[in-house]
Amino acid sequence: MTREELLAHARTAALRAHCPYSHFRVGAALLAGGKLYTGVNIEISSYGLSLCAERSALAAAISDGAGPITQIAVACIDTPPDAPLHERTPCGACRQWLADLAPDATIYIDSVPQNFSIADLLPYAFSL
Ligand code: THU
Repeated sequence: MTREELLAHARTAALRAHCPYSHFRVGAALLAGGKLYTGVNIEISSYGLSLCAERSALAAAISDGAGPITQIAVACIDTPPDAPLHERTPCGACRQWLADLAPDATIYIDSVPQNFSIADLLPYAFSL
């Protein structure tokens, strides 16, 4: 699957985001062992317990016993086209999840031409 196809899956997933508080829809799509998994951000009334789209997709893949995660696409579909990069990039918690669970993945961010590695997003990551 191409970068653009995976990003399209992330954008489609974002339409299913459950974000009644922020109204900020995020979708993630990843390939693991050649299989597609998607995730969305899920907000609940206790805001701090909300789940980001990236971790939602990673949880789906791991729960399914998926193979190694090779590519991940993230789409923040409510970010305006001219917004700065930091309004599209994964949060700190998701970066640690990515470092632990998808260390060799290439990360695609919608509307950002550059591809990222985990080390680009989280240098000197903690690991055990
Ligand atoms: N969000 C994500 O889904 N992924 C990120 O990496 C950053 C933030 C979600 C969490 C919350 O539901 C909304 O975006 C606003 O922060």
